[in-house]
Amino acid sequence: MAVATSYKVNGTTLLLVFVFVFAILRISHAAAVPAVYVFGSSIVDVGNNNYLPRSIARANFSHNGIDYPNGISTGRFSNSKNIADFIAAKVGLPTSPPFLSLTGTTPPITGVSFASGGSGILNRTGDYVVSISLAQQVGNFSMVRDKLIQQLGQSSAQMHLSQSIFTIFMGNNDISAYFSPCSEVAKQYTPQEYVDLMLSTFKGLLKMLYGLDARKMVVSGAGAMGCFPAQRKKNSMGECNVEINYWSARYNEGLKIMLQELKSELLDMNYVYFDLYGAMINLFQDPKTYGFTEIKAACCGLGKLNADLGCIPISEYCPNRKNYVFWDSLHLTEVVASMFVDILYSGTIEYAVPINMRQLIDVSI
Ligand SMILES: *[C@@H]1O[C@H](CO)[C@@H](O)[C@H](O)[C@H]1NC(C)=O
Ligand SMILES: *[C@@H]1O[C@H](CO)[C@@H](O)[C@H](O)[C@H]1NC(C)=O
Ligand SMILES: *[C@@H]1O[C@H](CO)[C@@H](O)[C@H](O)[C@H]1NC(C)=O
Repeated sequence: MAVATSYKVNGTTLLLVFVFVFAILRISHAAAVPAVYVFGSSIVDVGNNNYLPRSIARANFSHNGIDYPNGISTGRFSNSKNIADFIAAKVGLPTSPPFLSLTGTTPPITGVSFASGGSGILNRTGDYVVSISLAQQVGNFSMVRDKLIQQLGQSSAQMHLSQSIFTIFMGNNDISAYFSPCSEVAKQYTPQEYVDLMLSTFKGLLKMLYGLDARKMVVSGAGAMGCFPAQRKKNSMGECNVEINYWSARYNEGLKIMLQELKSELLDMNYVYFDLYGAMINLFQDPKTYGFTEIKAACCGLGKLNADLGCIPISEYCPNRKNYVFWDSLHLTEVVASMFVDILYSGTIEYAVPINMRQLIDVSI
């Protein structure tokens, strides 16, 4: 008791106590999400395709990145940052770097991105453009995991991975491939068979990730693929393609059910399903509320709706990027990416099912 009575609390000690508590909170918060591992297509690619010399799905040239720090083209299919950047920012981590940029180095402990523009859930989807399929991305992740185990030991690596976020933004290209002009898969499968094949393949790969210690998954549905400028330009009024949207939505319905099944099979797996389709349609219904004046044309491109040609150095681009939903004929602007991550992170059950990303992080493992 002598200690207690002689102990004099002054401003400095209070400050020190405060700093100490703050530091603990910071540490415990950081420990909640040790890393973000990113899988997917161009919607989250931060530069893997820059390292695929034969790929035609590339964005390492202007006017891509025009609003990125120093205006550099990083390989992101955007005027600046994309969904992967905003997810990392939400959890206070640096954006996970491209896997293919890490040759000969130790992968950062805060996560790696395997995402590749043009890729799909089905191996063949990205063949034509040359990209890294989801199956290959999972294979590449298992190599990163091996290194992590060498670094941390089996049980610490396992703990690290089970608390990490695994985000998967895939499916858009598979849907587009089915409805492309000379589609081979359309000759082989009915749309329903094709969507079912996407879902069974995806389920197998998610199980594989679970087998590699992933426990917290953020899975995006397909976007409203009929509403991208690439499809809108084929309609005289610039309206969305109803059939492509229908099958995007059908796939999403199946995905929601598949994730529920997966959760019932793998009890300690947790997930967020993000309704990218719904988020897009909501934007189109009330664009002015969100500051958009152009929901049909791409900002960067040439021709009808700026969608006859992609965003390449000779293309034109709009000065008011914040007012456009689409950056090019196939991709969203930075401002839309940021909005969508806000919805994914703290949105309601309307768009983030059955919990949002903030709640997913709080699930204790
Ligand atoms: C983009 O990447 C490819 C393949 O790595 C490379 O050949 C090309 O020079 C790059 N373009 C620019 C503008 O950096
Ligand atoms: C897809 O590719 C992976 C390897 O990247 C392979 O293991 C798998 O068998 C392939 N799937 C099909 C259906 O061909
Ligand atoms: C990533 O996976 C692909 C497909 O399995 C493989 O060809 C490639 O070698 C892997 N990349 C590296 C750097 O290991």
